[in-house]
Amino acid sequence: PSVLIINGPNLNLLGTRQPEVYGKTTLADVEAMCTDAAAESGLEVAFCQSNHEGALIDAIHAAKGKHDAIILNAGAYTHTSVALMDAIASVELPVVEVHLSNIHARESFRHHSYIAPVAIGQICGFGPKGYLMALDAIAERLKKT
Ligand code: DQA
Repeated sequence: PSVLIINGPNLNLLGTRQPEVYGKTTLADVEAMCTDAAAESGLEVAFCQSNHEGALIDAIHAAKGKHDAIILNAGAYTHTSVALMDAIASVELPVVEVHLSNIHARESFRHHSYIAPVAIGQICGFGPKGYLMALDAIAERLKKT
């Protein structure tokens, strides 16, 4: 089985972007951690990152038939994008929503997620480990189906 890990706006700057909030681990580090963990779980993993809402939607559409699940950190589009929510609902792939920070402990505009209602679950507040937790949850779910 194959999992697509999608990172949205500003996550290309991980490691240098507000390290007090998001930590010092770079996106390349996160992807390397995921590659290792996926291999251990017998999963294939692919990555994409974009700062553009439409490109994220295209990536979700293209995942259908190619990947079995998606891990999505939509960054700030989490809190704004009905279009991303619709894209996820359209492809009928299991999506796990991930955030490095605990969005519920931050500004109130980060408390609402358009992704959550169409995700199988949300993981937030555990830094890069959240992606590994998501992979673990997906591995278990795909085993059952
Ligand atoms: C984030 C949380 C969002 O509120 C923020 O806009 C981000 C990163 C996180 O991973 O904690 O860009 O998705």
